[in-house]
Amino acid sequence: MDHAGIVFDHVRKEYQDGTVAVGDLSLTVTPGEVLCLVGPSGCGKSTTLRMVNRLVEPTSGTITVDGTDVLGQDPVRLRRSIGYVIQHVGLFPHRTVAQNVATVPGLLKWDKARIAERVEQLLDLVGLPHATYGKRYPHEPVGRRASARRSGAGARSGAARHAHGRAVWSGGPPGQATAPAGVS
Ligand SMILES: Nc1ncnc2c1ncn2[C@@H]1O[C@H](COP(=O)(O)OP(=O)(O)OP(=O)(O)O)[C@@H](O)[C@H]1O
Ligand SMILES: [Mg+2]
Repeated sequence: MDHAGIVFDHVRKEYQDGTVAVGDLSLTVTPGEVLCLVGPSGCGKSTTLRMVNRLVEPTSGTITVDGTDVLGQDPVRLRRSIGYVIQHVGLFPHRTVAQNVATVPGLLKWDKARIAERVEQLLDLVGLPHATYGKRYPHEPVGRRASARRSGAGARSGAARHAHGRAVWSGGPPGQATAPAGVS
């Protein structure tokens, strides 16, 4: 595809109070590429990510995903096509790990067999085999050892849950000045 990926073209975001969060950003993220935005607190990393799925709208410039301007797309559809992994939140506590991962394909009305196959594939990918972890709930520890419990099972389930879309990204926790983004 000619315009595959995410393209920022002279993007500026000035919030209503006059804060210029992003001045003039031109950037291309190609399919398969992993991009990390690294910078001091307040330099505009989160604003940059949020503009891709229209949680924040640019003041000027354009952002395209696979060649289509995000501002011309229905925000809900756009967001369902893009994963956004947020640490510590974002998983439904009353639904199993497998049900969490199945959330967006369900909204997209995939058939059951396709959802089951994808859920299994994604849980395997993040190291939480479906047979062992699919029926557990997000708060249940992943391993008996404390080190295993600390190994980010929640974040991995979150990553799997949001990995259905064309692009996936993760905002680092407060104090961690990184924000990796990738396009699948
Ligand atoms: N809704 C808002 N209204 C006004 N200013 C805002 C708003 N959101 C963010 N800002 C300001 O925009 C600038 C960029 O913020 P942003 O959250 O994008 O930074 P960041 O690089 O993600 O920071 P951190 O590393 O702390 O997460 C900061 O000066 C911030 O205070
Ligand atoms: Mg941030």
